[in-house]
Amino acid sequence: MVNIWKMKVNETKKQILKALRECGGYLSGEALSSQMGTSRVSIWKHIRSLKEDGYVIKTSPKGYRLVSSPDLLLPYEFPGLEQRIYYFPEVGSTMDAARELAKKGVGEGTIVIAEAQTRGRGRLSREWLSPEGGIYFTLILRPRISPAYAPRINLMASIAVAATIRKLFGLKAELKWPNDVLIKSRKVCGILAEMDAEMDVVNFVNVGIGINANTSIPQFEKTVTSLRDMLGKEISRKEFLSVLLMEIERWQSLLMKADLLEEWKKLSVTLNKDVRVVAPGEVIVGRAIDVDTTGALIVKERDGSLKKAMAGDCIHLREETPNTDIGEVSRR
Ligand code: BTN
Repeated sequence: MVNIWKMKVNETKKQILKALRECGGYLSGEALSSQMGTSRVSIWKHIRSLKEDGYVIKTSPKGYRLVSSPDLLLPYEFPGLEQRIYYFPEVGSTMDAARELAKKGVGEGTIVIAEAQTRGRGRLSREWLSPEGGIYFTLILRPRISPAYAPRINLMASIAVAATIRKLFGLKAELKWPNDVLIKSRKVCGILAEMDAEMDVVNFVNVGIGINANTSIPQFEKTVTSLRDMLGKEISRKEFLSVLLMEIERWQSLLMKADLLEEWKKLSVTLNKDVRVVAPGEVIVGRAIDVDTTGALIVKERDGSLKKAMAGDCIHLREETPNTDIGEVSRR
């Protein structure tokens, strides 16, 4: 079993990278060791460990020079956020690791990142295939809101993902209620929120985000896509995650503001569509006409009655393009 508490950033490695980046050229072992207050042997060992992580560091009589950094989502790649990050080359599910951490009391904004997951979970107990090349993380939030408003967190996270895709690549990312992000009607990102709450108080909401970044999607999968497939080239996953974390912070500050719902409505492809929502305990069929202040979908049924779906699976009916929830074997 992996020890979650060991997956924190290594302070010396962090400081060495910072010093090498700031210097831009060669930095001697002696300078590094006096800067870090540690022995040259220790510097050498940490440099070796950084090389094992994928950093290309040139060694010469002049010292060490950072040549390149890997496109891994290592904490060192997110300056200023390192202390909030728990990083796994591979884990069962970042949701499980995050739950354990949240239960132990880690702070708001803690991020659990994995390069790959062996038991990635989707909504409704579906499997979420998580090979290397994707972006998989869970953000631990402790919002001071009534549990009734928790669905707004789904909307917030999906807006942030769409904003990141639009900003970085100019692709028209759109949102399907409750929290799928689509490009050209194909799913590129899934979001899973798990809440721990009492009657009036939210203890934590863990928001798991899976993005098909540099993953290959088989040809026959007509309902799913990846950023690489859409762009015809690999993306920088660390750049994507840096921008996404900033977007999340921005939209989180608007969580309870009308702007959030306005933005979601602008990006939504669910509103004004005929839908079938498989909600806990009921199936609602009708025209999706709005979202209410809690983030629930309001559906007008054939007989004119209005129904609210707080959560569930939403199927767009009579679509010309394939639906992201129909005939899906597995979503990555
Ligand atoms: C969906 O069904 O659309 C939600 C998919 C959520 C996948 C992410 S990947 C990171 C986090 N860890 C998991 O096991 N699931 C979520």
